[in-house]
Formats: sequence, C-alpha cells, structure tokens
Amino acid sequence: MSSFPLFPEAASSIAHEVDLIYFFILAVCSFFAILVSGLVVFFAVKYRRRHPDEVGADIHGSILLELLWTIIPFILSLVMFVWGADLFFRIARPPADSMEVFVVGKQWMWKVQHPEGVREINELHVPVNRNVKITLGSEDVLHDYYIPAFRVKMDAVPGKLTTMWFRATKPGTYQIFCAEYCGTQHSGMIGHVTVLEEHDYEAWLAGGRSTGTAVENGERLFTDLACITCHKTDTSGRGPVLAGVFGSQVRLMDGRTVVADENYLRESIVNPQAKVVLGYQPIMPTFQGTVSEENLMQLIAYIKTLKPAAPVSPAAPSGGQ
Ligand code: CUA
Repeated sequence: MSSFPLFPEAASSIAHEVDLIYFFILAVCSFFAILVSGLVVFFAVKYRRRHPDEVGADIHGSILLELLWTIIPFILSLVMFVWGADLFFRIARPPADSMEVFVVGKQWMWKVQHPEGVREINELHVPVNRNVKITLGSEDVLHDYYIPAFRVKMDAVPGKLTTMWFRATKPGTYQIFCAEYCGTQHSGMIGHVTVLEEHDYEAWLAGGRSTGTAVENGERLFTDLACITCHKTDTSGRGPVLAGVFGSQVRLMDGRTVVADENYLRESIVNPQAKVVLGYQPIMPTFQGTVSEENLMQLIAYIKTLKPAAPVSPAAPSGGQ
C-alpha cells in the first residue's frame, strides 16, 4: 500500500459494493459536469454575436429535448435510489447468525466488551469471515464509530442503542475513528480493529482476562439490582415475567403494542414509566444514572437469554397488530 492512499483498503464483504455505487455516482456526476460546462463554452463561441446589430433566433422550445432531459435524469436517479436503498438495507440489517460485540463510546475512548467477557479499550479483535454485530451505546455525548476499511459507520447516541454489522474479509489491522465531533479530544478518539484467523481469534479470546461473560454479568446484576424481586419466573411478581419477552409483541397500558427489542428493554430499565405493560402498575423505579451503559448491555444480554419455561399459556396476549 502506498504511503498516501487515495482510498482506504477494502476489507469487508460490502466494501467493494459501497465503492462501486460511489464510483457509479461519481462517473454520472462527472459526465454531466463535463458535458454541461463543455457545452457552455462551445455554445458561447459558436453563437457569439458577430455584428452589433445582430438579433437572436426566436426559439419556442422543443418537446423532444424537454422529454429527453427529464426522462434520462429520472431513470439515472432511480437507478441510484434503488441500488443505494438495497445496499443500505443490507448494511443496516445485521444477519441473524452474527456474533455480538458491545461498544460504548465515552469522552474519549471506545470501550469494547465481547460476549465471552473479554474487554478492550480502543481496540477491537474480530475473527475473519464471520458476521459481527456491534451494539453501540454512548455514556455522554454523540460519537460515531467508523471503520473506513469496512465502509461502516454508525452514530453512538446517548440514551439509546444503535447497531451496525460487518464481515471482515482480510486479516490485518485497520483504523477506527470517531466520526462525530465530541469535544476537545475528539481527534484522539481513535483505535484499531484487528482481524484474526478463526483459531488466532480463539487463542486471543482464551488469553484475555474475562470478568465473566456478558450474560453472567447481566444475571448477577439482575440479582444485585433486585430486579429479580419483582420480575419473577412465574406471574406472582409485581413486574412482568421477562422469560421470552425479547422479540415478542408487548401490549402497553396506553393501548399501544410494541416489539420488545434492545431499545425497548433499555428504555424500560432507565425510564420505566415510558412504556408500562398492560396489567401492571407504574411502580418500577428508574435506574437512570445508577446503571452504566455497559451494565445495561449486560442486563439486556441476560434478558435476551431468558426463554419461556413452558409453552405460552392460551391466556397470554396474542401478538395482534
Ligand atoms: Cu467521540 Cu468524536
């Protein structure tokens, strides 16, 4: 690689696709920029005034020209839209078989937690050729996790969780940037992602100091924070049963039905009054400020593992619209 690369390396499954649409749009724009400016110069010379008393031709327009310069740009912009939207949706939706890594942005570092419990700061180790889903949170202000070689970039937004995913295709070390101005040390909020062969990754994981897996930590928090006293495994608790809640449709007191995704679980912990489940009292205290963003991710990781013990009883609300 040259010391002054025009483009970052392409090291993920979608990198070449992103480049391709980028070059297509660049080519279309360049073609028309050159065509239009060329014609401006050409016409200025060709139709210049030769005598002081010369009068311009009386032109009343052309249906054919009007149609051409409407239909051609329309088709070109639709191609960009459909192509771009298709790629966008594939970049935005993590595949179901992704391994999960939690990343928290904080002034001014990236804190990474692997599901096996290994943590790192400003570094990210991932195996090659595996789908990796990043769940992103922020402890303070807006940050943006950006890995140019993978062509992925996602805001870390305080107060909610966002996701991104990639599949690295080449072992190596690549740059991580914060791509959202977040204070005086913003430019120093950088790091490296290291892509390892599968067995090297396993060895790296085994060598890391694990403080319990994310699920184990979440389970411990679930007890320590006394969640367990209200969210019991049977319906005798003062709070809803959490087994099987993740991904299900939840009926709320105000009549709405929401899908219990990661953001719903997160909000229900830090702001329990926002969406109260039908049939329950709004008595849960807020855990805003008492649970760190990393602990929230651990709690969510644990709640996601809670599966219903028995088949859902017929009395359970059916997931209607
Ligand atoms: Cu964090 Cu810029």
